[in-house]
Amino acid sequence: MGYVLVEKGKIVAVSSDSIENTGSVEIEGMGKMLFPGCFDPHVHFRDPGFTYKEDFHTGSLAAVSAGITSVFDMPNTNPPVFTVENLEQKRKIAESKSVCNYGLFFGAGEKNVEEIKKAKNVPGVKLYLNSTTGNLKMNNETVWRDVFQLGKKVVLHAEGETFFRAVEIWKEEEFPCELHLCHASLRSEIDFVREMKKNPQAKGKISVEVCPHHLLLTHADQEKYGAICCMKPLLAMKEDLIALWEGVSDGTIDFFATDHAPHTLDEKKASDELGQTPIYGVPGVETFFPLLFTQFQQRNLSFQHLANMTSLSAKTIYHVQDKKGLIEVGFDADIFMFNPSVKTNVEPQKFFSKSPWSPFDRWDITGKVEKTFVGGRLVFDQGKIIDFESRGNELRFLN
Ligand code: DOR
Ligand code: ZN
Ligand code: ZN
Repeated sequence: MGYVLVEKGKIVAVSSDSIENTGSVEIEGMGKMLFPGCFDPHVHFRDPGFTYKEDFHTGSLAAVSAGITSVFDMPNTNPPVFTVENLEQKRKIAESKSVCNYGLFFGAGEKNVEEIKKAKNVPGVKLYLNSTTGNLKMNNETVWRDVFQLGKKVVLHAEGETFFRAVEIWKEEEFPCELHLCHASLRSEIDFVREMKKNPQAKGKISVEVCPHHLLLTHADQEKYGAICCMKPLLAMKEDLIALWEGVSDGTIDFFATDHAPHTLDEKKASDELGQTPIYGVPGVETFFPLLFTQFQQRNLSFQHLANMTSLSAKTIYHVQDKKGLIEVGFDADIFMFNPSVKTNVEPQKFFSKSPWSPFDRWDITGKVEKTFVGGRLVFDQGKIIDFESRGNELRFLN
């Protein structure tokens, strides 16, 4: 049993004894769990450019309906975030539409090093080393070196070989920046990061995330279900999945992310039927926490570890300056209430996302997000968004 008192968006008291109520609204949560609002440090809200798939408003509603109170948006929008002007344009969009808090990544292009230098308040610079949605793949290793030398955190879409090559170059350049591997999917990547973390020069500078789809699905699912199980990196083998869970348990993997990558179901189906170039990506924010909670319970992993990997860890590794990620006095009241007792199913038709489908359609899940607070404001309650109007803040980063 515990009590949390929130005033003006901040947590002002936490106690196991009842707190004297001086007239505030009281919310009863017997049998429920309180978690710090999730960070999803990897989403594609498609705004600007592809707002028929998602936009910052619908993406953020989907996020808060699932306990995610802060997101970091990727730069492969249209236009991509390659200039400070593009960044400012996206900032205005997020400021006017986002119900949750947000950070905005900058993209590395062939000739935008000067722009990257000028970019202020970004979680990092995204460098694409393999093909995926958008045309951002960068083969030029000189550009990789130049981007590393800027000293901002570099976030990689890399897969196996390209990741190992990037780390080689990072070493040759003498570790000039922090390096983060997005959506790890292979045993070789996890084993490699585990070893790298033992290297005193790399320690504290290399991190890795994993997405639920790589933890729960394998190549066999793509064979069976086609495009709705097609994303980049592609789903791997059972052996890789086992290695990812080992990385979760032993702390090699730093945090979870969704890689929420909405496309319409029609687009996905067409890519199956017409045998065109695959359309990579699956929506993920609305299944994120319930799937992970269910797995942690089944695997007997601690919910403290889950809370860390869905919240504080990403906030720490990305050097978010705001007081978030814990339910402690002085922290922002980004919190959600979770009912661990109910058994439900994934029901994509109830999603707030503009792309309401999921590779986890009808999967059994334990628990349900019941209420989400962003900065102390109750925005989602018992299946409904109750505040469409309030807006989250841009997170503050070190650079
Ligand atoms: O599956 C993916 N979809 N992987 C990515 O890296 C990009 C994303 C997208 O933007 O659709
Ligand atoms: Zn990616
Ligand atoms: Zn992505």
